Amino acid sequence: MKEAERLNITKSRELFEEATGLVPGGVLGARKPTDFIEGEYPIFLETGKGCRLTDVDGNEFIDFLCGYGPIILGYREEEVDEAVYKQIREKGFCFTLTQKYQNLLAKRLTELVPSSELSIFLKTGSDATTASLRIARAHTDKLKVMRCGYHGWHDWCVEMKGGIPSKLYEDVFEFHYNNLDQLRELMAIHGAETAAIVMTPFGHPNHEKMQIPAPGFLEGVKEIAHRYGAVLIYDEIRTCFRLSMGGAQKLYGVTPDLTVLGKALANGYPISVVTGKKDVMTAAANKLFISSTFFPNSDAFIAALKTLEILERENVLGNIWDKGERFMKKIQAVIDKHDVGAELTGVAPMFYITFRKDETGSYKSKRTDFYTQLIRKRFFFSPFHHAYISFRHTEDDLDLTLNAIDESLAFIKEKYEKRL
Ligand SMILES: Cc1ncc(COP(=O)(O)O)c(C=O)c1O
Repeated sequence: MKEAERLNITKSRELFEEATGLVPGGVLGARKPTDFIEGEYPIFLETGKGCRLTDVDGNEFIDFLCGYGPIILGYREEEVDEAVYKQIREKGFCFTLTQKYQNLLAKRLTELVPSSELSIFLKTGSDATTASLRIARAHTDKLKVMRCGYHGWHDWCVEMKGGIPSKLYEDVFEFHYNNLDQLRELMAIHGAETAAIVMTPFGHPNHEKMQIPAPGFLEGVKEIAHRYGAVLIYDEIRTCFRLSMGGAQKLYGVTPDLTVLGKALANGYPISVVTGKKDVMTAAANKLFISSTFFPNSDAFIAALKTLEILERENVLGNIWDKGERFMKKIQAVIDKHDVGAELTGVAPMFYITFRKDETGSYKSKRTDFYTQLIRKRFFFSPFHHAYISFRHTEDDLDLTLNAIDESLAFIKEKYEKRL
């Protein structure tokens, strides 16, 4: 199998060079070239439409990152964008007081998300996970937190601890997804002082294989939380309005006390939510100050209401599950055919191709080779993050992608067999 030709990313590199003198590190966080494969992936994008992205050098890609999760319909989804433009033109969106859309969206959430009774609206996922902890601590008058999953960049949970006094995270303890024994042991020590257990109800740890809940895991966590009087918080920033309209909690039938959601809610417009049971959420009104200049801006509320309308009207998640399951079956067949240590995990709306860890570490170079071939063939996946499917991926797009996955695995097979 011939190696695909390297992309021309000259303009991306020039912009990045310029950016390093303007922005520390050039670009922030998960958009850094080191979070992909340096020298192979573009660094700056120009446009997007549907499931396609075009970079500043004019390379067009079929994209599977979906803006890191918010794009559930597609890029530049006209109906959503038009609703927002109309709001801006005819009414305005940034005012001294709140507009009525807050109430409309809160009502919609109570209809859709099992744990939703009262909601507060914020901008980012990190805003919301942090606010949910503050609410849980205020409600319980306790301090400690058990956590499982990625919850954003704030002091209590970020992996890189630079610039954070240890007292801001020393009361936070991490447990692994599907490891009930580990949580039991932690709670046996800290349970009496624990305000909250915060977790992703579906397992999507950074850089690792994805995990569905083992039988009894979610029920077990809930039982432990309530036995100790802790608030159970589901971080559904990625999973709500993607796994189901009621989130992973609806899909798996376990309802938490609080839910944090965002990303897919507004197809790219910035909005996040803490929603949950009345008795817990009332702490937000009585004991806390949660406020920010932009929280009430109605552009994102309008986008959210329109996105939810389309998700329901078009049965978007049904469409994503159907085509995604067919796609995953075909990927698995291709993986079995080549047998180079690739592994497929996750569920149809969010899945990940990783490589089986081995002692020699060849899984790392296989990963690099595989994702290098894919980006060169103009399929935008991340080596270090799972993929998403959007409404606008067509069967033809997925067939083209399958073919590229097939060829990339064939390339690896040839390359690594030659080495043996
Ligand atoms: C599960 C989860 N929680 C929280 C966050 C933080 O959200 P944000 O990046 O909007 O602050 C993310 C972001 O990827 C996430 O995936």
